[in-house]
Order: sequence, then structure tokens, then C-alpha cells
Amino acid sequence: MAKFLVKKSAPLNGEVKISGSKNAVLPIMAATLLTDENCEILDVPALRDVDVMCELLSCLGATTEKELDNNRINVRADGEISSEAPFELVKQMRASILVLGALLLRTGHAIIHLPGGCAIGERPIELHLKGLRALGATVDEDQLLKGIVDARADELHGATIYLDFPSVGATEVIVMAAAVAKGTTILENAAQEPEIVDLANFLNKMGARIKGAGTDTIKIEGVEKLHGVSHHVIPDRIEAGTFMVSAAITRGKILIKNMLPDHLKAVIAKLRECGVYIEFTDDGVLVDGGRNPLVSTDIKTLPYPGFPTDMQSPFMALLTVAKGPSVVMETVFENRFMHVGEFNRMGAGIRTEGKCAIIPGNKALKGASVVATDLRAGAAVVLTGLIADGVTEVSQIYHIDRGYEHFVDKLKGLGANIERIED
Ligand code: EPZ
Repeated sequence: MAKFLVKKSAPLNGEVKISGSKNAVLPIMAATLLTDENCEILDVPALRDVDVMCELLSCLGATTEKELDNNRINVRADGEISSEAPFELVKQMRASILVLGALLLRTGHAIIHLPGGCAIGERPIELHLKGLRALGATVDEDQLLKGIVDARADELHGATIYLDFPSVGATEVIVMAAAVAKGTTILENAAQEPEIVDLANFLNKMGARIKGAGTDTIKIEGVEKLHGVSHHVIPDRIEAGTFMVSAAITRGKILIKNMLPDHLKAVIAKLRECGVYIEFTDDGVLVDGGRNPLVSTDIKTLPYPGFPTDMQSPFMALLTVAKGPSVVMETVFENRFMHVGEFNRMGAGIRTEGKCAIIPGNKALKGASVVATDLRAGAAVVLTGLIADGVTEVSQIYHIDRGYEHFVDKLKGLGANIERIED
């Protein structure tokens, strides 16, 4: 299995361009099933998850053309569309569930074998199903007990749906299904992430009538038909946040291009609390980690616009070396501290108590053999490897390949001492 060898590096310096958002492009690719016309998607990141979603769309009968060297994908779901998502692909990427609503709309039937839980949590989908049932779908309860979503709908109609938790995936699945349902749907306590707004913009370009995306109440007036479009995906806010932390933790100075600061207000505020200098310039966001002492702060993850759970582990990397103790509370996922053990192998001395991790801070970390326990945690242990004495060997880096485009090249371009070694 491939690994990363990370060595203590000088403060990172230079500029880096942020790629398109993984968590925006995946639901947008699923939404291409809602039309039989051509959809061109631009600024697509060359990631493993994008490959898997492409394979899934092809298996379902869509024609996909991938030109990831130009960050471009073409999808035309104009053939006979199958209702069943192959487990082989679904088990590689739980985001496959995002095709559920579009598949139901397109074929009147959707069969998706659910993968089990993953490192960060059980990942239930009861809210996705609550929404689809409200729109008129039926779900085979016996099949569900076997972990298979087998949903049918001759016709979907508008409804008022309340989400018990502002689930990103449930919001996306319901919005896609409601876009071509008969009548109006009001989705309350909806997720407000920027990726929801990008999906709504994509669907509205296709002819949908969606208002309120980015707020907790989304109104969707169902339309007869959606047409093909061309769409640029928004930049990846979590990749941007990860590179902001890379400047802070190495006390370097990086100009981050193609990022939208508005999508990272909570992370920018917290970095500034740690003494990191951040300036919005015409060329991009300048992050200077060496201007002031690096001090600690507390973090609590929340649904957007709160501090993003996907930035919890990269930010914790910073807190292991910041001056002073800090507390990180993870409120979104039930098991997202798997990286604590990896940080502790490097000498971070972190203790966890339920939803909280207590980070003593001010540690002189030592290189160690560590594991990427999820894609964000993988990036986080690379960050600590950049400042730890000695060599840090990171395994299970396929997680990182899922979510960070050209990660090694981008870091090397900033002066990082990192190599990818293939076993
Ligand atoms: C999306 O996952 C992202 N993935 C995740 O990013 C991100 O961490 C997450 O949103 C939260 O921001 C994609 O967009 C592909 P949720 P999703 O449904 O949709 C509970 C990454 O690193 N929940 O908002 O699965 C659930 O158990 C990945 O890029 C229910 O209880 O997230 C979790 O605790 C990791 N019932 C919480 O909500 C449900 O029916 C958040 O889940 C659905 C969710």
C-alpha cells in the first residue's frame, strides 16, 4: 500500500490554488440523472471519489466523459437508466446514497445496498427516507432491515418536511427529488452548507425553481422537466482550510488562490484567535503563521455556519503545538476522534472525554508511523509530520487520495518535505 514519508520542513512559503469542491461535485453529479440532456461540469477535482461517482453513473446507464486533466466531466443520462446501484461501488463511497432521490424520480424505483458505519460514525439515512416518504415514496421495510434501501414511487408530490438534524446528504437527496415532484415542497431545518447552495444553483440552471438554499428553510416548486447545463463547481472550502492551517502550523506564509473566504468564516475567526495573520487581497487570501505567537483556542464543531466538523482534525493538529491548553468538542459525528491516537503516537498527549478532546498544547512532536483514519485525519497527520522531529510515515493514504487533489505536489510546491512511496 502507498504511504507518505513526511519530514520536518521549513515554514511553508508561496502560493497554492484550491481545487473544486468534492462535496459540491458529488451531489451535482448525482443530479445529472434528472435530465436526459448533456450536463458539463467544470472545475471538477481529480479525486478517487469523483472516479467512483463516474463509475456509478455509468453503471446506472449514463454516458460519462471524464477529462480530469482539464477538470471537466460530461454526463448524459439519455439511455435506459437502471434502478440498482451496485454494492461494489456503494461500499467504496457512502456518498453513493446521493443518487437515491434522482434515481427514484427518473425510474420510479431505487435499490441501494447500504454500507455499514465507517470510522467516523454509523452514518444513518433515516432522514433521507423520511423526506422521500413524505414526497410519496414507499420503502420496503423488510429490505431495509437487511441494509438495503428499496424505494418505489410512481409519482412524487410536494410536502412540508422537517429535518430532525440539518443533514447535508438528506437535504441534497430531498431537494433533488422535490425539484421534479408535482407541487411545492418546504424543507425546514435544512442544512445550510455552501455545497447545498451550489447544488441548488446547478438545479436552477437546469430549470428548477429552488429558493432559500443556504438558509434553514428551502422552498422547491416542482417543475415538469429539467434540461442540460454547464456549471463551474465552487472551490473546496475544506481543502482551503487545510492549507490555511499548513501555513499556521509551520509558521509560514502562503497566498491561497481560488478560495471563497465567506465559506470559511468560522475557521478564519478561530485561526485569528490563535494569532494567525489573515488578509484578503485581490490575488487571494494571505495567511501568515509566523507574524504572532501561536496561541490556543477552543473549538466546537457545528452544522454550517458553525465550525465545520471536516476541519476538526486539521485544526487539532495546530492545537497540539499552540501555546496553552485547548478543548475540542465534536458535536456532529459520534466517533470522530480516531486521529487522537495518531497524534498521541507523535507525543501530543491528548485526552478524550466523550465528545471532548483536551489538548495540552505546546508539544515538541516526534515523527512516528501513523495511519490516516479518515480523509481529513489523514491530512491532519501530514500537517503534524511537517513540524515533528524526524520522519512521519503515513499509511492508508487512499483516504487522502479521496479528497485532496494533487496533495503532495501542492505541499511540495510550498516547500514541504514529503514523498509518496508505493509499496
Ligand atoms: C456530508 O456528509 C459530507 N460528505 C461530510 O464530509 C461532512 O462531514 C458532513 O456532510 C457534515 O458536514 C459529503 O458531502 C459527500 P450529514 P453527510 O448527513 O451528508 C447524522 C468529508 O470528509 N445523520 O450531515 O453524510 C449523521 O449520523 C466528509 O468530506 C442522522 O442522524 O453528513 C452525522 O452524525 C466526511 N440521520 C450527522 O447527522 C440521517 O438521516 C451529519 O451527517 C443523516 C445524518
